[in-house]
Amino acid sequence: MKFFIDTANLDDVRLAHDLGILDGVTTNPSLVAKEGIDFKARLQEITEIVNGSVSAEVITTEAEEMIKEGKELAAIAPNVTVKVPMTLEGLKAVKVFKEDGIETNVTLIFSSVQALLAARAGATYVSPFIGRLDDIGHNGLDLVGEISNIFNVHSIDTQIIAASVRHPVHVAEAAKQGAHIATIPSKVIHQLVTHPLTDKGLDAFLADWEKANNGK
Ligand code: E4P
Repeated sequence: MKFFIDTANLDDVRLAHDLGILDGVTTNPSLVAKEGIDFKARLQEITEIVNGSVSAEVITTEAEEMIKEGKELAAIAPNVTVKVPMTLEGLKAVKVFKEDGIETNVTLIFSSVQALLAARAGATYVSPFIGRLDDIGHNGLDLVGEISNIFNVHSIDTQIIAASVRHPVHVAEAAKQGAHIATIPSKVIHQLVTHPLTDKGLDAFLADWEKANNGK
């Protein structure tokens, strides 16, 4: 499973890139709004740091407008993936993007049939939202497993991005359920790296070294 970061913050992107784990970035209108930045300029900056896919979401809702907007976003850099909501109009737009050779990430997926439809329309990626399903008492990770199973049975090459990731267990379980990618907020990346026994072990190693070499 690959790691994307779910952010529009440049420092977060740079840090994940420097860790050597970063395969891509996903943004959404809420994440961009939080940064209070010019979206296209920020998108350009992110695509210059990251080699892999950078998802940029359309904010229009009619297919024709989405296609126009998506083409403008895709023109910013070759690694831009146009993020499209899972709607009838969104599927129409995905079909056209596919024909034009533009990668798409169909977002706001909450059922396996939505994922199958998006894949058949030509989506490069589908994004099931794990955390938001958990929030309403469903099991988001089960959905990742169901989609993975359907895609395997039908030899579908659309990639599954486990999205709306809230904690490290989501990441480990998404990998087990067959997600190709997890898109993870910066806070969870930090949580994934750290372990109290790692910190305790390192402190002990350094203290022992200091004791043995004291005064030398
Ligand atoms: C995915 O591409 C979305 O940007 C994201 O994962 C949504 O997560 P949230 O439910 O924490 O807002």
